[in-house]
Amino acid sequence: MPDFLDIHTTAPADLRTIIDSARAMKDARAGRPKGTPDDETPLAGRMVSLIFEKPSTRTRVSFDVGARQLGAQTMVLSGHEMQLGHGETIADTARVLSRYVDLIMIRTFEEATLHEMAEHASVPVINGLTNRTHPCQIMADVMTYEEHRGPITGRKVVWSGDGNNVFASFAHAAAQFGFDLTFTGPEPLDPEREWLDFADAAGHPVTIERDPLKAAAGADLIVTDTWVSMHDPESARERRHNQLRPYQVNAALMAQAKPDALFMHCLPAHRNDEATSEVMDGPHSVIFDEAENRLHAQKAVMRWCLGV
Ligand code: CP
Ligand code: NVA
Repeated sequence: MPDFLDIHTTAPADLRTIIDSARAMKDARAGRPKGTPDDETPLAGRMVSLIFEKPSTRTRVSFDVGARQLGAQTMVLSGHEMQLGHGETIADTARVLSRYVDLIMIRTFEEATLHEMAEHASVPVINGLTNRTHPCQIMADVMTYEEHRGPITGRKVVWSGDGNNVFASFAHAAAQFGFDLTFTGPEPLDPEREWLDFADAAGHPVTIERDPLKAAAGADLIVTDTWVSMHDPESARERRHNQLRPYQVNAALMAQAKPDALFMHCLPAHRNDEATSEVMDGPHSVIFDEAENRLHAQKAVMRWCLGV
């Protein structure tokens, strides 16, 4: 059974299957009370464990609700309350959990932790964010774009801000779904070379443009994220804010994009830092649709992993 570890390591046809399945499940639930199960409950009798080594609101709640709507039972585990946090190896934790549960979702720091979990678990493992990637978020974002504007293939997506883990999964998605991606941000916070090289090799090089207004020209979608991620040291906050302030998504930046451009932010947001409230609450913004679609996209990811 497959893991869902990253967008660039999942075949484009499988990514499309997941998005289509998410959309179908969303449509099938329209207007229904959130606490009720779906008509089909393919995860009935399954146990899903959700491990968090970092804080979370959306990932935690959307995976938990989604698994239950599919008929599963769930347990949310906090990394520091497990033996994982007291020296038990990831590999041993993976082997033990595999004797109890059918699926493991983990949000962690180092990417190596995710890969060690996947290597030693005999059940599928899903990446709920690492310091380097956030694939479930971008599956929801692609779904959200297409729900509002049709196929994302060939569109111009502009990322303004930090070249972080969420950007990395956008770079992977640009290659796998075939859209044009522009990064605008300060050079010290450029995306990792490995992700830019991946996009190059896949024939979808990321355009780097230091001038945010030039970068945003003609965009179909403008995206940003927090200026200080959970894994960034607190001591870097002031420097990052100074470096990133010119890349704030505000009305002037949005005005460069196409008139029907969308605005996305994975949330949580620091209002009036990386994006103004005017943009976040304005007509281009689909930020709460993105949050909702985490639920539907991850239900599709869980079904795909379990082959049900
Ligand atoms: N976007 C996202 O992953 O949010 P949480 O950190 O609240 O899970
Ligand atoms: N880049 C952010 C995303 C949070 C969902 C972080 O890693 O903290």
